[in-house]
Amino acid sequence: MGETVREFRRTAYVLHDPADGTMFAALDDGAVARGCAVVGSLPPLYPEWFGGRSFGEVHGTRFAYVVGEMARGIASTRLVIEAGRAGAIGFFGAGGLTLAKVEGALEEIGRELGADVPWGCNLIHSPSEPDTEAALVELLLRRGVRRVCVSAFMALQPTVVRYAFTGLRRGDDGAVVRPNHVFAKISRPEVARQFLAPVPAELLAALVAQGKLTAEEAALAAGLPVAEDITVEADSGGHTDNRPLPALFPLIQQLALELAREFGYARVPRVGAAGGLGTPAAIAAAFQMGAAYVVTGSVNQSAVEAGLSAEAKELLAQAGLADCTMAPSADMFELGVKVQVLRKGTFFPQRAAKLYELYQAHASLEDIPAAEREKLEKELFRRPLAEVWAGCVEFFQKRDPRELVEAERNPRHRMALVFRWYLGLSSHWPIVGEATRRLDYQIWCGPAIGSFNQWVAGSFLAPPAGRTVAQIALNLMEGAAVVTRAAQLRSYGVPVPASAFEFRPRPLRLA
Ligand SMILES: Cc1cc2nc3c(=O)[nH]c(=O)nc-3n(C[C@H](O)[C@H](O)[C@H](O)COP(=O)(O)O)c2cc1C
Repeated sequence: MGETVREFRRTAYVLHDPADGTMFAALDDGAVARGCAVVGSLPPLYPEWFGGRSFGEVHGTRFAYVVGEMARGIASTRLVIEAGRAGAIGFFGAGGLTLAKVEGALEEIGRELGADVPWGCNLIHSPSEPDTEAALVELLLRRGVRRVCVSAFMALQPTVVRYAFTGLRRGDDGAVVRPNHVFAKISRPEVARQFLAPVPAELLAALVAQGKLTAEEAALAAGLPVAEDITVEADSGGHTDNRPLPALFPLIQQLALELAREFGYARVPRVGAAGGLGTPAAIAAAFQMGAAYVVTGSVNQSAVEAGLSAEAKELLAQAGLADCTMAPSADMFELGVKVQVLRKGTFFPQRAAKLYELYQAHASLEDIPAAEREKLEKELFRRPLAEVWAGCVEFFQKRDPRELVEAERNPRHRMALVFRWYLGLSSHWPIVGEATRRLDYQIWCGPAIGSFNQWVAGSFLAPPAGRTVAQIALNLMEGAAVVTRAAQLRSYGVPVPASAFEFRPRPLRLA
């Protein structure tokens, strides 16, 4: 049975033995000679065949496998380049980086991968910094970046529409050609709908009036969805709604189909799955649900190419399933938004929660009891709060002076800025490996890392040094094929042992 399952690139036969009435599987039909009957056969299966056919055709990938963006360059240029070389698509983690840094990264990736290997970049919504968002879109268009994953958008923005439809034209066969591809990352049906429906005519007209789209581009865009790749993000690392994939994915898949019918799209938008994918079984299950592509995140953060310190990768490699938790986020702290982070080996979640508790309970820094303030200065900030505030002033004078005006008016806002100093730096410390701040590391990750660690225990993928983005991807996809083959045989009524669903990681080569 083991061989029949593992050798999934060959035809498998399902045979019935009339002598004892049993069903069994084999890689040849030799048993027919001793009176067995072939009751079915399974054609060869290839990891390349998982997902939507059009995903590979449109994006030029070998595998329907996406290495998700991770902010602050954790999804580094090397990670994106090696993902592309392995036949996947990697998205650069542009969130939180300066435009100059992003431009350097785009230049490097483009140069290393050339025109034929696909890759992309993240555009994360920054409601408080609309100019930054617009400037990034400008840069992405100027550098001809063909794939952009847009995330954290609750409503459609002109920036995204402009990127999506710039360069739209009719091909020789009359079909509309889209040079730019938007991958929309969503975790709620109401947000998905905005990316799946045609753009409101007024929005297109406004972009034409501003000279951001041509009249021809806008005319072709009418009646098209903004995104033809919708990533359904279930419980994941970083920002997450913590929804289980099997609950969320089918809803969005259905929605894509309904809207494609309603608006008469030539192509149904592809729906991909993200969140919690850290084992072959999880990947196989996502494809079985109908995912056009899969996206991994947390597991790649411990890869050698990820832009994270060795110390932080080591902590990630030790994490179990329950070793992550929700903690207040730096970017939307005041709104009570949380992100999923590592719990084991760091005090960050407790410390960040304490800051949020204080923020809710007090009107200003001065309002916090003196003993509590001293504790914060000693343990958490490791400097007087006045000094932290001076640092904030220096930072926001350059970045966004409006924050300082608001802080002057509202002492509670001043308190939030001071607390965000800690929340912002705590995700920088694990990147640079700040040894004096090990217990304050804010490492975004979800339960996928725990299940991955358990799966790879004892194998070459257990130490972070063995975890390349390519080996992680190839092993997950190869393993998913093993799981799928075992499930196929079970669906024929063959007694398939639980061990047939097991795939141990092994060094794999791209043939
Ligand atoms: C360290 C880290 C940083 C992330 N940063 C971003 C980001 O900046 N933008 C974004 O859209 N998604 C971000 N994500 C989400 C990933 O791109 C991916 O969708 C998610 O991690 C998949 O779920 P998983 O963590 O369960 O594998 C991040 C995830 C991690 C683990």
